Formats: sequence, structure tokens, C-alpha cells
Amino acid sequence: MCGIVAAAARREVSEILLEGLRRLEYRGYDSAGMALIDNEHNLQLHKQQGKVCELEKAQKLHPHLGCTGIAHTRWATHGEPSGVNAHPHISGQRIALVHNGIIENHAILRKELCAAGYEFSSATDTEVIVHMLHQYLESGRSLLAAMQETVDRLEGAYAVAAVDVVHPDQVVAARKGSPLVVGIGIGENFLASDQLALRQVTDRFIYLEEGDVVEISPSSLQIYDASGAPVERKRSLISEAVEVADLGGFDHYMLKEIHEQPRALAATFAQAADHPVIDDCFGAGAAEVFDKVKGVQIVACGTSFHAGMVARYWLEELAGIPCQVEVASEFRYRKRVTHANTLLVTISQSGETADSLAALRNAGDGEFAASLVISNVANSSLVRDSDLVFLTRAGMEIGVASTKAFTTQLVALLMLTYALGRRASMTEKKQQEIIAALKDLPDYVQQTLELNDEIEQLSESFIPKHHALFLGRGIQYPIAMEGALKLKEISYIHAEAYPAGELKHGPLALVDDDMPVVAVAPSDDLLEKLKSNLEEVRSRGGELFVFADSKAGFSSEARVKVLDMPHCPEVIKPIVYTVALQLLSYHVALQKGTDVDKPRNLAKSVTVE
Ligand code: AGP
Repeated sequence: MCGIVAAAARREVSEILLEGLRRLEYRGYDSAGMALIDNEHNLQLHKQQGKVCELEKAQKLHPHLGCTGIAHTRWATHGEPSGVNAHPHISGQRIALVHNGIIENHAILRKELCAAGYEFSSATDTEVIVHMLHQYLESGRSLLAAMQETVDRLEGAYAVAAVDVVHPDQVVAARKGSPLVVGIGIGENFLASDQLALRQVTDRFIYLEEGDVVEISPSSLQIYDASGAPVERKRSLISEAVEVADLGGFDHYMLKEIHEQPRALAATFAQAADHPVIDDCFGAGAAEVFDKVKGVQIVACGTSFHAGMVARYWLEELAGIPCQVEVASEFRYRKRVTHANTLLVTISQSGETADSLAALRNAGDGEFAASLVISNVANSSLVRDSDLVFLTRAGMEIGVASTKAFTTQLVALLMLTYALGRRASMTEKKQQEIIAALKDLPDYVQQTLELNDEIEQLSESFIPKHHALFLGRGIQYPIAMEGALKLKEISYIHAEAYPAGELKHGPLALVDDDMPVVAVAPSDDLLEKLKSNLEEVRSRGGELFVFADSKAGFSSEARVKVLDMPHCPEVIKPIVYTVALQLLSYHVALQKGTDVDKPRNLAKSVTVE
């Protein structure tokens, strides 16, 4: 998704800006640009469709130098990916501006600005911001006042940063709904949409709050709150080592991340051993909150939503705690009835997903007993805004298709089930089973990874297909959903998941000899029901790909291919089966030649609505 990097220094900053953009690349984008104020106080601009390396080439060919600058990677929302729509946008050869987010009232503002004589060159919502800023500056406002008045007029979400040739050593910026962080240097200051972009130059950061406007120069840094009053915000020292994005011998980050799961799962669960009681893994005060919790509301998007769906089975069946799960983009706009003492749980790998963040922020006063986030990114917006926090130990996830983040979220959710279940109806025996299963989980995942070659062979059947159905029952239904999401996301094969019992209510009409059907079929209480559903598929000529353990009693035959999964404890089957489906998608995508790590149209961190 869009990324911002900005610098106000006494040294030349083009390489700092480019390196910042490189560090944000994994999030997904379609164009990139950079504006610098040169020694003669002129704006110098490079921007184009394509990757940051193209921007670097342009910079090598026609170097632009300056000590003040802004840079951007754009993920198109308004206006196609193109050089014209790429940021920075310019007004009057005076201002350059970059923007993350979406301006909802851009059409009205565009009309006003056109009437005032401004000519628009792009189809973006962003261009209204730069012209409005220019208009306020030309009417005599200071850079700060012009930015404050501009953002006052904006509806929607934004993180913006701008430079002005009349104030050549300053960058002014603002945020609401999209993240922005200040990086504090020595004799220089920076801004970025993620601290990762600035770890090359500093380890001292200030996370801006909603409505903040900030002005930086090499020697000064002043933040103003939404009312315009100067404020001090907390400074954070981030000293842990930055993980370096490195393929470590794998062909793709996705494959590397799939293989990192035994370690990531063990590290996530190991937090239990670091604390006297498991409750403490969820942050200070968790025990008191958990004592009063009578129900759970989970809100998340995409893969994280699927983790929530799995958790609902665990919380209700194992802990006896009522649980609702909803996608954040619906939850945030719905009038709700919430029972007393409900815990709001958001799940987000990035901790920056706009819909999940809005869902948390829109929760009514006193509606929930407390909020808990399960996230992979410390210091993310969701982490900072939640009462309780569980940090998964997946390590940085680069592949757009979430793999290790999902399975570590499931570990966190099983730990939550245990913590709440102990206070409810969970037996001592069940508690011990959960802990033992979590300890053994990395081994079962490792055994599944060793099925790679068999899975690769299965994947060949999917290459000529345009559609696929994924079936599961009970807790395996959300795993089927996750399998279908992975396949469509990276191979571009249309895939849908159904609870197998629903097949006869419609989707069975789709089944013919051209429709591969993947069944998540471990031996469990619903297996016989699932087998009947699979017979319905077979008798209509459908080709079955069954992921099952030996106890399930399937065998490969004409039009039925069985992958022999390890037999593992019931409670961790959703996690173990997920890994096999991840490998299936990976191999299909690989053979189809898609961009596995950066699938088209998608972004790693979805910071717009
Ligand atoms: C997963 O493969 C997807 N890339 C996507 O569905 C993702 O899980 C979703 O956008 C939510 O992201 P989050 O976990 O960072 O909130």
C-alpha cells in the first residue's frame, strides 16, 4: 500500500529517500516518485509507474539533489497506475505533496479549486490537497497554518507530507486515519508512514496521533494537535535489530515464510513460558479483564478474519464462551447489540489495516469490557490503541499472502481460549491437552512441510483450471476458506470455500469434470458427514483432492487423490492442515508463473478503506 518518506537535513537526502522507499516496497505499490528542493530552491521531480528501481534509474540518469525532500510509493485507488497519477503532486511549481489514504470529499473540493482557476493534471483524489495548500499559502498563510487549514477541509483518511520552495528547509505533514511517524536525527529530522523506512537513519521515533500536524526542519520539530495547540508526544527508542529482508536461499519470501512456521509457532507459544501465568502474555491487567469476560467479539479482515472464524469454534466448544466474528468493514458501520462484559478482539498481522482500526475506534463508549489486539507488529496503530496486546512472534512477513502470521495468530487464539476457558467450563484435562498440543505443534508442522514433493505433484492438476472448490466441515470450514483465499490470491484461479453440507444447496451445480474440489478431511466427529458430501461430488464427475490422515480411511483412486497428512491432536489440526494448503497454492502459483510474493492488485498492509 502507499508509503511516505520525507527528510529535512543538512546533507543530500535523495539516497535516504530511495532507501526508505525500498524498505516499504514489500507492502505492494504500482508507481513511485520523489521531489527534492535543490540548492537554487527549485522543485526537482521524478515520478513514474513501476518499481522503485525504475525511479533509481531515472535518478542515476538525471540526478536531482537536495537536502529537503519527500518520496512516495503509490497503490492506485483514484486513477489508474500511471506516471501522471503517481505522487508527488505539484502546485504552482511551488509545492510538492505526497498522500496516503483516501479523500472522500475530493469531488466537491476539485470543483471549488477549478472555479478558482486551478488546473488538474491527474485523476487522483490527492491533487486537491496540493492545490488547496497552494491556495492558502498564496493568500499569505504560513506553511503550518496553510496545512492546518487544508486538512481541516478534508474528509476521509490521510497522511500527507509537503515541501514548499519558499520554505526550503522545512517539511510539513499531517495525519488522520493513516499512520505517520517522525524520525528524530541529529541535526536532521524525518517522516515516514512506517518506522521501518527510517531505521537506516535513526532509532528514535514519535508516533503522531490522530489530527496531528507537524513541521520539521534539520534543527527543529514541532507537533500541533487537532486544535492547533503545540504538543509534546512520547518519544520511543526502538533498539531491537531490524530484520533484514533476505530470501535465505528460498526462491520466494512466501516459501521461506511457510518454512519458518515451526520456529515462529514455537516462539509465539514460548511467551507462555516467559510469564508466571499465561494471562500475562496478553499484557498488564489481562487477568482482571479476563475474570469478568462473558463473551468475545472478534473483528478482522482477510486471513486474520479466518483466524477469528477458527477461534469461534475453540472458544465456544472448548471454553464455553460465546463468540461472534465479523469482517471489520461490515462491523464498523453496523448498529450493534453488544452483551455486557464482551471482550473486543481485533486480529491484524500489520496492525494498520484501516477497517480493523476503524472498527476498534468506532466501538462505543463502554460497549466492550476491553479491547485486545493480536498483531505481529509492535508499535502499530492497533497495538497502540488497544487495552491489551498479544504480539505474535512470526517475524517480519514480506509475502503479501499471509502464512506464518496466520498460524501464529491461531496459536495466540488457542492461548486465549485456554486463558478464558480456565475461568469457564474447560476441564483440567482439556487444559493439559491444549498445552501439550501447542508444545508438539512445531513438529507436526515440520512433518507437513516434508510433504512438499507430494503436494507439488498434486498442484499440477490445478494449472489448466479456472475454478476450484474448497470444502470443510466444522472448524475445518474456515481452513477451507483460507485455502481458497491463498489459491485465488496468488494463482489467480477463482476459488471458493463452502461448508461441505451446503454443497447441495447450490454450489453442486458447478461440479463437473473440470472442477477440482479440495477437501480438508481429517478424522474427526464430522468426517462421516463430510464423506457423504464428497460422494455427491464424485458421482457428478468432480475430481477430489483430499487432505486427510490415515485414520480417515481415504485412499487414492480414479479421480480421487489423497494427501496423507500426519495424525495430530484434534485441537491443532486447523493449523497443521493450513500449512499443506499454503504449499498447494504456492506450487500452483509457481507453475502458473505469477508474482508469488507480490500478487497483482494487492498490498501487504491495507491502510485505506
Ligand atoms: C492474506 O493473505 C491477505 N494478504 C489479506 O487478506 C490480509 O490478511 C488482510 O488484508 C488483513 O491484514 P492484517 O492481518 O494486516 O490486518
